[in-house]
Order: sequence, then structure tokens, then C-alpha cells
Amino acid sequence: MTPSPTEDLQRLQQLGLERIAAAPDLAALQQVDTELLGKRSEITALKAGLGQLEPEQRKAGGQAINAARTTLQQAVDARRAELEGAGRRQQLEAERLDLTERRPSARLGHLHPVTRAIQHLEDVFTGMGFTVSEGPEVETDWYAFEALNIPTWHPARSMWDTIYVDLGEPGSTLLRPHTSPVQIRLMEHTPPPIYSVMPGRVFRQETSDATHLAVFHQIEGLVVDRGITFGDLAGTIDAFTKAYFGDRFSSRLRPSYFPFTEPSAEFDIRRPDGTWLELGGCGMVHPNVLQNVGIDPEEFSGFAFGFGVDRLAVSRHGVADIRELFTNDLRFLEQF
Ligand code: DAH
Repeated sequence: MTPSPTEDLQRLQQLGLERIAAAPDLAALQQVDTELLGKRSEITALKAGLGQLEPEQRKAGGQAINAARTTLQQAVDARRAELEGAGRRQQLEAERLDLTERRPSARLGHLHPVTRAIQHLEDVFTGMGFTVSEGPEVETDWYAFEALNIPTWHPARSMWDTIYVDLGEPGSTLLRPHTSPVQIRLMEHTPPPIYSVMPGRVFRQETSDATHLAVFHQIEGLVVDRGITFGDLAGTIDAFTKAYFGDRFSSRLRPSYFPFTEPSAEFDIRRPDGTWLELGGCGMVHPNVLQNVGIDPEEFSGFAFGFGVDRLAVSRHGVADIRELFTNDLRFLEQF
């Protein structure tokens, strides 16, 4: 008995589905597609043979063949989509770029001790209600000196061994020798009350040695409000000392002179072993300075302070030579 067209069709469909599922790639699938459904395929031949059937069998046969075609076609489409997806995934994987700069096996570095000192200082002062402000490293004579009550003729100019920039009028442009000009810039734009610290890099014409650098860092502090007194200054310095260094440290003020403060003082930190660390200068903001930025000294008063950050970092870590900080020797830096 010859197999009926329906049996042929079932066998064809079953085999076809198996071959489609087994096609390993798109090219193989295309081949299977042509063989199963193309002009020379068995299914096409079966369709052509419909004409030999009785008219009433023709309709059922045609429907069965079409159903099988549809099933096979859908299987081919599904397999194609699957293979294409896999291809894209493979391509993505192969062409993937590793954009991470460090590999898990690499050692992580850490921030420079001076950067960390600045961040720690900012933390302590923001904890005390201060904001953080910044200003430019290249300054004009006005901000660096004049507005701070240091006229050109004033002997106090020699307190800062300034590096001038060859730009504009001789002596008009300079690398800031201290962070105090940021006080002026801040007061120009911010009406009181002002409670702010201003860290930054400063420059002096100086031959570096174990305790001096030509490029170093300072942090400036400025408070301007109604009714600010010298007692507020002393209290702030002491609160800062304890918050930054610890409860076993204390501070003292010694009379001094700065053109932008009156009265002025130096402040020292007393270490638990009884030795003193000279940290910086401070004082009550000079009325001339307030007037220079349009703040009425009758209504407002304030205090300011400024100190070196590098020395702080060095004394904290017991480093004998401040120049070590910036020779960029990893054997040194890795210790902190
Ligand atoms: N600018 C001074 C310096 O570089 C430090 C200083 C002293 C800053 C007194 C102040 C201050 O704000 O009130 O030596």
C-alpha cells in the first residue's frame, strides 16, 4: 500500500521541524528553508499532485498542505529570529570594549595627604556651619593687596614675596601669595551674614627648604555678621582646634599685625605633649576692608583667619621635610 498524501505530509512536516530546529546557523537554515518550502521541495510537488485527486479530496488535501507549509514557515521564522539574536549577542560579546580604567587586580591609590587635609578641614568647618568658597590663583593687585588695606607704598607688602605675571601694567597681575583675596571676592558678591572657608593654592617667591615651599596651600576663614566680637574669633579657633585635632589640643592667640585685621593675632595649637604649633594669623576684619566692598562697618563686624595646610599635614604625619609632599615619590606617598 502506497502511503497516503496525508501520511506523506505528516512525515514531511515532522522531519522538516526537526531539521529546522537542528540548523546550526543562518546559512544552514536558509538551505533547509529552500529544501523544505522552495520550488523543488516535496511539499511543492505534493501540491502539484493535487490535480490528480478526486475533486472532493482536493480541497481537504490543499488545506492540509497549506497548514503544513504554514507550520514549517513559522518554524523557520522562529528559528531565524533565534539565530539572529544569538548572532548579535555573540557580536556584542566579541566587540565589547572594556572602558574601566582600573582592573580589579590593580591596586587602588588614595588622595594626596594635602587633599585629604583640605577635605578634613572642609568637613570640620561645614560641620560648624561654614560654607566653602573658592577664588582664582591668578589675581589682580586690587584683590590681593589694595582691597585688603595694603597700599603699594605700605611696608607690609614685603610680608608677601609675590610672583608677578607679565600681563597688563607691570605689577598689576600676580599669582596670589595668600588666600585672603577670596575674602574680598566673597564679600563683593554675598551680603552678610557670611560664614565661609576658602581653601586653595598659593605662590611665593621663595627658595624651598625643609619648612617652606614656593607653592603651598592655605585655608582662609571669614565671618561677617552683626555683633561679631573678638570672643567669637577666639571661641571659633578653639572649637575648630578640638574638632580637627581632638579634645586634648587647645589654642592660644598672640598679638600680631596684619593690615587687613585690627586687632590682629597669631594663633598656635598646643599639642598634648605641651609643645606648640604655630598655625596662622587672624583678627577682626579692618573697617577699611569692609568699606572697600561696600559693607557698612557701623552695622557689621567680622573676623578672619588664615593658615597653611601643608604644614598641618606634615605635622600630623610627623614628616621632617615638607618638600617630600610634592616630590611625587610613591614610596613616600603610599605611607599615608
Ligand atoms: N593672609 C595671611 C598670610 O598669608 C594670613 C592671614 C592672617 C589671613 C590674618 C587672615 C588673617 O585672614 O585675618 O600670611
